[in-house]
Amino acid sequence: MIEFIGVSKSYNAGTVILNDISLTVERGELVILIGPSGCGKSTLLRLVNRMIAPSSGQILIGGKDSALLDPVELRRGIGYVIQSIGLFPHMTIFENVEVVPSILGTQKAERRSRAESLLHTVGLEPGVYGSRYPRALSGGQQQRVGIARALAADPDVMLMDEPFSAVDPITRGGLQDEFLRIKTEINKTIVFVTHDIDEAIKIGDRVCVLNAGAVQQFDTPEALLRAPANDFVASFLGEDRELKRLSLMPVTALMRIPPSNAGEARGQVLASSSARDALSQLMGASGRELNVMDVAGNVIGLIAMSDYGRNP
Ligand SMILES: Nc1ncnc2c1ncn2[C@@H]1O[C@H](COP(=O)(O)OP(=O)(O)O)[C@@H](O)[C@H]1O
Ligand SMILES: [Mg+2]
Repeated sequence: MIEFIGVSKSYNAGTVILNDISLTVERGELVILIGPSGCGKSTLLRLVNRMIAPSSGQILIGGKDSALLDPVELRRGIGYVIQSIGLFPHMTIFENVEVVPSILGTQKAERRSRAESLLHTVGLEPGVYGSRYPRALSGGQQQRVGIARALAADPDVMLMDEPFSAVDPITRGGLQDEFLRIKTEINKTIVFVTHDIDEAIKIGDRVCVLNAGAVQQFDTPEALLRAPANDFVASFLGEDRELKRLSLMPVTALMRIPPSNAGEARGQVLASSSARDALSQLMGASGRELNVMDVAGNVIGLIAMSDYGRNP
């Protein structure tokens, strides 16, 4: 658990970067920090591993005041992943992933088998990539290695500063999917900075919207989209806020149970689809009602445009 208690940061008299921030990141939670460029996201993140010190306030990690912890010890328990990856170019992928364990004196065989398992976790075949140098990997693959390296020390906490923003949108989507999968396996407390609202909504358990050094709203993606706290948050979420909300909602939340005599041939949508994808399909079907199908091919519901008016 990470607690920020009344944290402020200013550099020169007069320039307040963060102003009295209080928020709690629960154990095992993935919290997104989002906001416009320069609003203090990276600053807030760097306060956690003491790359910088607060001007006032406290940061508790696992209930302990981080200011009183040994910084080297503290950072050992915190994985840090940044946008520009920072892989060592003269080291192989295996060596990069094994950097921290080798500093800690872990035996070579144990280090290697852990590196292999981590590369598997991030979706890279160790037999293919382990002995390569970073330049022989794509940007997206390098980013995966960066995540594997941060996981290698098995930290309780991961700090990730725009880790996927340097890769193209398709690769980014793949990395996000991969990351969501890994997240359920690794069970770590993660603070993740992004400026991409779609990324925030897709991967965050909770999202903290910052502006001008202050928290504007700290809530689940669903709650943010349903009830933005102020005009800034609403405009940050975008004009298509309702559509974004539908993308978080399964079509099964809006469908009607079909009458028992519903044998009519209709277009189909899978029950695993989001309400947003079902809406796209309805538009393609000229608005005609669709059958909602389970994986076994049974009709479990009906969905029509008019069902969106009941949007809970
Ligand atoms: N070492 C520094 N000295 C003075 N100002 C700084 C320093 N580091 C960051 N800032 C300022 O703090 C503000 C927040 O920066 P940062 O946390 O990096 O923003 P972002 O939300 O884009 O990550 C910016 O206006 C930046 O110029
Ligand atoms: Mg930043």
